[in-house]
Amino acid sequence: MKSNPEITKAAAAARENAHAPFSHFKVGAALLTTGDAIVTGCNIENASYGLTMCAERVAIFKAVSEGESNFVKICVVADTDALTPPCGACRQIIWEFCGDVEVLMANLQGESATFQMSELLPKAFDASFLDSK
Ligand code: THU
Repeated sequence: MKSNPEITKAAAAARENAHAPFSHFKVGAALLTTGDAIVTGCNIENASYGLTMCAERVAIFKAVSEGESNFVKICVVADTDALTPPCGACRQIIWEFCGDVEVLMANLQGESATFQMSELLPKAFDASFLDSK
């Protein structure tokens, strides 16, 4: 199983590709699959701001489009003193595609912390509600 430093390094490298000319806030993400592969993403902004896609969602959509569907953890890297957590929209998408995975947050100073998705998105809405009627 790939180590947290390896996964964090991959997310930090992806962060370098961020297209963030409006916020100048670069984010990198790295997803670890159950097959021990890493799929990365960076945030990609647009002049029509609402079309911006976060790093986490880019990584997840890349992975799903490549046939990956089982994940162990997701890492988020940004250059902030307080570790940057996934936004609300990304939490919903992470829950949908990854379930109760570990979320590793890290910054460029080598600080990191791990949370479970169920801590970050308690009482989540998901497909189980659609089946219950
Ligand atoms: N952003 C992410 O990519 N992931 C996060 O977890 C937080 C926010 C991006 C979206 C936007 O491009 C920039 O950071 C500022 O919100």
